[in-house]
Amino acid sequence: MSGSLRRPLVVGNWKMNLTEVQAATLVDQLLQGLSTSPRVDVAVAPAFPCLRVVADRISGTSLLLGAQNLHWEDSGPFTGEVSGRMLAELGVRVVIVGHSERRTHFGETDERVQRKMAAARRHEMIPILCVGEQESERDDGRTMEVVARQLRRGLSDVALRQGSEVVIAYEPVWAIGTGRAALPGQIQEVHRMIREELGSMVGSEIASKVRILYGGSVAAGNAADLLGPSEVDGALVGGASLQVEQFRAIVGAAA
Ligand code: PGA
Repeated sequence: MSGSLRRPLVVGNWKMNLTEVQAATLVDQLLQGLSTSPRVDVAVAPAFPCLRVVADRISGTSLLLGAQNLHWEDSGPFTGEVSGRMLAELGVRVVIVGHSERRTHFGETDERVQRKMAAARRHEMIPILCVGEQESERDDGRTMEVVARQLRRGLSDVALRQGSEVVIAYEPVWAIGTGRAALPGQIQEVHRMIREELGSMVGSEIASKVRILYGGSVAAGNAADLLGPSEVDGALVGGASLQVEQFRAIVGAAA
């Protein structure tokens, strides 16, 4: 896997799928079923109303608490929003930023993503910056340009000193929730470009410590192929993270 520089990370993005009761059941099953390994970090990202119940259950375990979004301000007149300060107080350690579903359905622009990245760092959470091209952009040969732009804009207000303070998730939009994962070669190509871009932004030493995940239809059956190459430091998992056996197999492949 990713060599000694970077510990793999697998994040389960539960999206808008589980009620509080269902989230509690799933996390209990995960705690029984996942053998904890010092060789991989594992996080789950429930919906906001489920954070407390999941936080209570995973307290004292190695499972990390994640969130799916945050607002860029710490407080104020933003009806319906949740701030990084609130999340940090709940024990959230990682937060997904700029997921393609937010970019597509909720008007999340690169500028908002940039501010959210900074807000997450202000509260010492690790933001997972999601980048990825639409299918039409890939067809037009614009994948690298689109991903590089999202990367640069997303990171422009974040000071990278170690490299481990942020995580990048390459998620081609056409692979998310479609059962059509990208090919290992396609993933490696983009991951290499991302690391080169990072290198030109912060130097190769720091860039070498940034974890770059893949996301998009990762499942038990393809995890070893997708996560095997040394460029891939783990996975952001949607659908398969709702099934304990699937998620366990993916974590196993990452470790
Ligand atoms: P998927 O979702 O695994 O269901 O394709 C991935 C994601 O949205 O992060």
